[in-house]
Amino acid sequence: MDNRVDTLESISKQVVNCLLCDLAKSRINAVPGNGDIKSKVVFVGEAPGKNEDETGVPFVGSAGKILEKALREAGFDRKEVYITNVVKCRPPNNRIPNEFEIETCTSAHLKVELQVLSPKIVCILGATALKSLLGLGHMTLYRGKIITRPPYRYFVTYHPAATIYNNKLKETFDSDIKRLYSLIKGENKTLNDFA
Ligand code: URA
Repeated sequence: MDNRVDTLESISKQVVNCLLCDLAKSRINAVPGNGDIKSKVVFVGEAPGKNEDETGVPFVGSAGKILEKALREAGFDRKEVYITNVVKCRPPNNRIPNEFEIETCTSAHLKVELQVLSPKIVCILGATALKSLLGLGHMTLYRGKIITRPPYRYFVTYHPAATIYNNKLKETFDSDIKRLYSLIKGENKTLNDFA
């Protein structure tokens, strides 16, 4: 049996029991990543919201519904991808996680998670993940781009929540996820990059 399963389970346990920052005091549940550990793509969002805090599962609220629909329309099954967050506990009132929370949580959890998953591509969902993973601002400059920073390749798109009241962003987000699908499934010329 794949011992990555054990390692990911132990990462999840560490997340659930984590007391490394003050978000542990206000959370109901910590929210470990979830999905298929064999997935070629790992989606990384910002932090859990209310629904995720209540259930302990990432992207199950309104942003999750948008993501799931975009995944389905592109050809992905949610169960065959892996979804996680930069920060694993809900910041009070859904504020953006602060630098200490991001640094502490990514060092303790996300970096290890990515090492174990070793995906072909990391899909960055939104500005917080872009800043946290690549140190880059200006989502509009990088959206739709593939950025190679060994040992990973990253694909940058909007956070699904950013598209809720903006149809134009929603269309772009949906088409980004479709493009990601074709990149991963090898139906596109640029695919050689992913061999
Ligand atoms: N937004 C996120 O960034 N992550 C979630 O899990 C839910 C909403």
